[in-house]
Amino acid sequence: MKPIDIEVEKQQQLIKKLQKQNLKLQRFYDEYKRVCRNEEERIKELNCLYQVAQCVVMETNVDVALDRIVRIIPQGWQYPKDSCARICFMEKKFLSPVFFESSVCQKENISIDRQIVGAIEVFYHPRLALESKNPFLIEERNLLKGIANIISFYMKKLRDDEKRKVIQQQLLHADRLATIGQLAAGVAHELNEPLGNILGLAQLSLKLSNMPEQAQKDLSKIEDCVIYSRGIIKKLMEFSRESPLCKEPINLNEVIDNSITFLEARCIKEGISIVKKYAETITVTADPNQIKQVITNLTINAIQAMKNGGNLIFSTKKNSKNAILCVEDTGIGIPGENISRTFMPFFTTKDVGEGTGLGLSVVYGIIKNHNGDIKVSSEPGKGTIFEIYLPLEEN
Ligand SMILES: Nc1ncnc2c1ncn2[C@@H]1O[C@H](COP(=O)(O)OP(=O)(O)OP(=O)(O)O)[C@@H](O)[C@H]1O
Ligand SMILES: [Mg+2]
Repeated sequence: MKPIDIEVEKQQQLIKKLQKQNLKLQRFYDEYKRVCRNEEERIKELNCLYQVAQCVVMETNVDVALDRIVRIIPQGWQYPKDSCARICFMEKKFLSPVFFESSVCQKENISIDRQIVGAIEVFYHPRLALESKNPFLIEERNLLKGIANIISFYMKKLRDDEKRKVIQQQLLHADRLATIGQLAAGVAHELNEPLGNILGLAQLSLKLSNMPEQAQKDLSKIEDCVIYSRGIIKKLMEFSRESPLCKEPINLNEVIDNSITFLEARCIKEGISIVKKYAETITVTADPNQIKQVITNLTINAIQAMKNGGNLIFSTKKNSKNAILCVEDTGIGIPGENISRTFMPFFTTKDVGEGTGLGLSVVYGIIKNHNGDIKVSSEPGKGTIFEIYLPLEEN
């Protein structure tokens, strides 16, 4: 071999070596770029998850929160410009600013206590499906699961907060009624005796002979007023659970029938149809006269609420603990702001002389005295339902 050939050979070997090294470097660079791209994607995803979490922490209005989240979602995906999102929740739909529906889609359900209440979907432009068989990354599937979990947790928290608020309000209401009950009991007790004396003396005086005519008229008025006042005192005592109970096993359906017989004619006259939806015989241990009074008071209220006729529905059923009696009407309903006041003594919307506002307080007192519970729900313009829970005999 000539020296020049040796030199060429050497150079060729060197070129090969350099080419190999270049290839290695290129591979290393490609790998580095891939890792960087992946890192960028993960940062984008984490950022998206963080922003979604921030939305639910800051916002208590579900609609506003979901509207913000649906705008954030596409930014967390690999091709933000070719992606869009939709959140469906309770018949409502929230869409990202650019929205198109496509078959290239991933979906996750939103659930509360294992019950599906909505879904989130992310769509990619169909073009991306031509470029790759499965354009969504595993990380993106996990990201969507993460977002769905955050939203589910948020919904559950809002629902729990709402429940807690209702219970707190109920406790506050029960507490206030108990305080009013104590006050009413004290006042009623103190007034009952002097009123009894006034009545006795007025009635004795009325029997006196040669009483001037005017004095006799005045005494009769005093007698009427005292009888009226004692009626109120009696109702206050019933509300404050001062009245003694005469409990016995009673057939609830029969007691309802007995209570409403004398009101049936009035219902027919006022164009009100009575509907009965009774469960088979339900026996509870209760004071029949007091339960009768409960049904009568509720029925009279219902009749008064249906000036243009309607339906008056009595239903009974039971669960494992209670007999449940419902009195439902299709009358004017009770406005939301009045609902919590309906059981307060002297709360009335009726004209003077038409109502004292004690009917429901008496109902409340009687039911509480039977260790039961009463609930009211109403929709103005549609009607009102009173639900009474009485502990079953065996309990
Ligand atoms: N079924 C009903 N539909 C609509 N409003 C009702 C109904 N029941 C009660 N209410 C409302 O609740 C208020 C209080 O009722 P409650 O029976 O305690 O007193 P009242 O009927 O006004 O008077 P009273 O019963 O002492 O004659 C009523 O004035 C009315 O505004
Ligand atoms: Mg009433």
